[in-house]
Amino acid sequence: MNTLLSESAASGRGDGSQPAGDVITIRGGRPLRGTIEVKGAKNLATKAMVAALLGETVSTLRDVPDISDVAVVRSLLEVHGVTVDADADGTLRLDPKGAKSAAMDLIDAHAGASRIPILFCGPLLHLLGQAFIPDLGGCRIGDRPIDFHLNALRNFGAVVEKLPSGIRLSAPDGLHGANIELPYPSVGATEQVLLTAVRAKGTTELRNAAIEPEIMDLIAVLQKMGAIISYEPNRVIFIEGVDELVGYDHRAIFDRNEVASWACAALATDGDIFVAGAKQQEMLTFLNVFRKAGGWFDVREDGIQFRRAGDLKPVMVETDVHPGFMTDWQQPLIVALTQAEGTSIVHETVYENRLGFTQALNHMGADIVVHAEGLASPDRRVPRRELEQAAVITGPTPLHGADVVVPDLRGGYSYVIAALTAAGESTISNVGIIRRGYEKFFDKLTAVGADFDVVG
Ligand code: EPU
Repeated sequence: MNTLLSESAASGRGDGSQPAGDVITIRGGRPLRGTIEVKGAKNLATKAMVAALLGETVSTLRDVPDISDVAVVRSLLEVHGVTVDADADGTLRLDPKGAKSAAMDLIDAHAGASRIPILFCGPLLHLLGQAFIPDLGGCRIGDRPIDFHLNALRNFGAVVEKLPSGIRLSAPDGLHGANIELPYPSVGATEQVLLTAVRAKGTTELRNAAIEPEIMDLIAVLQKMGAIISYEPNRVIFIEGVDELVGYDHRAIFDRNEVASWACAALATDGDIFVAGAKQQEMLTFLNVFRKAGGWFDVREDGIQFRRAGDLKPVMVETDVHPGFMTDWQQPLIVALTQAEGTSIVHETVYENRLGFTQALNHMGADIVVHAEGLASPDRRVPRRELEQAAVITGPTPLHGADVVVPDLRGGYSYVIAALTAAGESTISNVGIIRRGYEKFFDKLTAVGADFDVVG
């Protein structure tokens, strides 16, 4: 069976059906122990797959996780005429030679809940002179507008037309290099600029770019394809457009978000988890916070082991762009902080609605107060943003089982950890969302000794 398509069953294609494995019951209160293997990062693999559209020859991407976001991008590439072959070990071969325009309704039908379709714009404009983006999904963690993307594309010479069904873009005269300063170092908008500038005529200068390790890995992919990209330490990236790119052969960077998630699971449940494939360099900020919160870790050649050093301690964290503490890490961390003695504060500065998931944790016995306008804090490192919120977590609070519905990818994972930490039984529905970003999720839960049943 083609493993990289199997998760599409759980992706929720909007047909209203409830995929199998969407509801689980968990009996908590038992430490998670064992080994988890992480593959390539969702947030690189999906972008590198889009980059394959830019090559004249076949691209090979290795360590691709078997998650539904990958399945969505795969089917979007296929409706655009790209041939995709997958091996069971997570190697994808992407052949763009048949690339063609796709009908709007097909794009819409295959886009699922993903936000990735917007990254097809630059490559499709170069290839075909036009692109269409349906209404974008992604996690419900804020407004998540696409204005930076559209403004950047306009700067490259694209014409943007808003239609009731989505957005149509065209570039009748081709795309040219641009001078762009992002209002915020957005990951997606930086990727948009990279994927567009590499084939635009002339040079592009991007200021205030995101510099996450997944972005650096995408730059490495594009360089393998023949792109000329350089960067300065002050978030400035220069791209010299070239006339032709070829396919690449690349192993995706490991999934930092999955590593942080399992590390927090070990912390919350007082377990001991070795995450094979985890690396230290890209996770320095996480590891500092993990240690300050009372975690112990051992960096080995082939991964990192995580457990508690002793009692958990309260911490003050502010989410930020790289090299700061990633927003994707705060949700699982908050679950662990409910077990720390004292008051922790988590300032969410990247998304305006990424603390809503804490309501269900309170329902399970946590004491978390969300300040919708954020909180002043004397020792902040990250400048305050208008949209920010803060969670004040007072612990330790014993958690008890409850019925909860997964709201988004990282929030959903956090509910699972909370249920595993809690005494008694929990029922978690809408679990399919978790498989957007966590490969072989149920197998991994079993591997670390979680006591659960798939009930629906
Ligand atoms: N923003 C705008 N306008 C734009 C684009 C972004 O205002 O045109 C704002 C967003 O609303 C948000 C902030 O900028 O407040 C940051 O958004 P960014 O563009 O950096 O995020 P993204 O590219 O949409 C990616 C990951 C997210 C991750 C963020 C931050 C993917 C597919 N998604 O999102 O991952 O949280 O970067 O690192 O790469 C996840 O994996 O669970 C996830 C949500």
